[in-house]
Amino acid sequence: MEEVSYGALRVRRLHPAIAGEMHGVDFSEPLEPATVTAIKQAWADHLVLVFPDQPISDQQHVAVTRYFGEPEVFHQDRIKSKFVREIFRVANTDEDGNIMPPSNPVQQQLSSARKWHTDSSYREKPAIGSLLHGVEISRTGGITCFTNMYDVYEALPARLKSQVDGRKARHDFDMLSRLTGAPKPTAAERAAMPAVWQPLVRRHPVTGRKSLYISPIYNDAIEGMADNDAVALIAELAEFAGQPQFVYEHTWSPDDIVMWDNRCTMHYVTPHDPAERRVMHRTTIAGDAVVEAA
Ligand code: OGA
Ligand code: MN
Repeated sequence: MEEVSYGALRVRRLHPAIAGEMHGVDFSEPLEPATVTAIKQAWADHLVLVFPDQPISDQQHVAVTRYFGEPEVFHQDRIKSKFVREIFRVANTDEDGNIMPPSNPVQQQLSSARKWHTDSSYREKPAIGSLLHGVEISRTGGITCFTNMYDVYEALPARLKSQVDGRKARHDFDMLSRLTGAPKPTAAERAAMPAVWQPLVRRHPVTGRKSLYISPIYNDAIEGMADNDAVALIAELAEFAGQPQFVYEHTWSPDDIVMWDNRCTMHYVTPHDPAERRVMHRTTIAGDAVVEAA
């Protein structure tokens, strides 16, 4: 597929609708301002960027994230690294290296990532983006799929468009426990993360483009609709968004870094053999603004 240049950097398109592989960047070194500018431009154009062969430390991973915003610290103690607090561990091992079985509460909670979602949408100011580092990758599954929500919105049939235009959906972190059987958030966690209402159609602050904004693992209600109708509509929208013309499927190589824009994409990961180790480290670029309705 075609290559595009951004200054001295090159991006190879990975799918007609979404994702590019960027070459010429080394995340183990401080980045030149021109490099950061090129990455931001390429990211706005491709929504998802893959940076192959970046064997960086967690500290370097956090440092790279800071070029794009403030790293988010996960609001629960579980899942985040006890060594580097900005690292969210999408892993089936604990930090002593032991495999956790699927019945482990952390694994139950992480299993929600096997459904379409966008990160931290349950926050009043949802995450801008995420950078995921393949530390120990899976060969039995663990393929991460990304969909272009600008294209999805544009392609929505009129019947669906009329149901989302001008409306809001609720995003509730507590949906995860209902969905996966993971322990319910404590009263303090709940108070820290009350459910929020977000527009179903949003405008991207950088590109100005409109996209459909849903996050099915957190959505439990839509304004002006019975809850069961709302959940059915979200499911229908997610199915529409999952069509192959919108979706890039990323098969990981060790030390890939994949950076996605949570403001105009959704993602999910395919299951893998739970006996196989899979260790992925994520940083999240914290939101700095409320979502603009479109
Ligand atoms: C995430 C996520 C997908 C994966 O880190 O936000 O959904 O491939 N992970 O593990
Ligand atoms: Mn995710």
